[in-house]
Amino acid sequence: MSAEDAKKLRNPVSYTKASIAAGRSTYQRQCTGCHGADGKATVDVVADATDLTSPQLYKSGISEGEIFRSIKDGAGETMPAFKDQIAKDEDMWHLVNFIRSLWPEGKKPALQDK
Ligand code: HEC
Repeated sequence: MSAEDAKKLRNPVSYTKASIAAGRSTYQRQCTGCHGADGKATVDVVADATDLTSPQLYKSGISEGEIFRSIKDGAGETMPAFKDQIAKDEDMWHLVNFIRSLWPEGKKPALQDK
């Protein structure tokens, strides 16, 4: 997926508690080894993994589509692609919602009911 295509992607999954919980579960299985349990990448983590709680530190874009692409296709030199491990786009979008829930108040989206 090109960077331009990623910008145009829209998240079809609402930002709900259920979606964030589903994303958290995938995150805990696949992502904590490098980004840490809290997403800050401070303890026992791979050097240079992005602190996911600080959108201003992201190098590959912070739109929903860009985050989707970073996870699906990988990012930089060391973030692996997860398109095989996370085969369903829906699960990828849950992960995008979870990641945005780590952002500070004011930056994260408003919770939706359904
Ligand atoms: C093998 C270690 C590793 C694993 C596992 C890993 N990441 Fe990463 N991730 C990285 C590194 C290193 C970067 C920084 C890449 C760069 O230099 O741009 C990164 C970057 C990212 C970015 C882009 C941030 C930016 O700078 O724009 C996102 C989003 C992300 N990771 C999410 C995830 C998610 C979600 C998972 C689990 C599905 C995951 N990562 C698993 C190492 C990892």
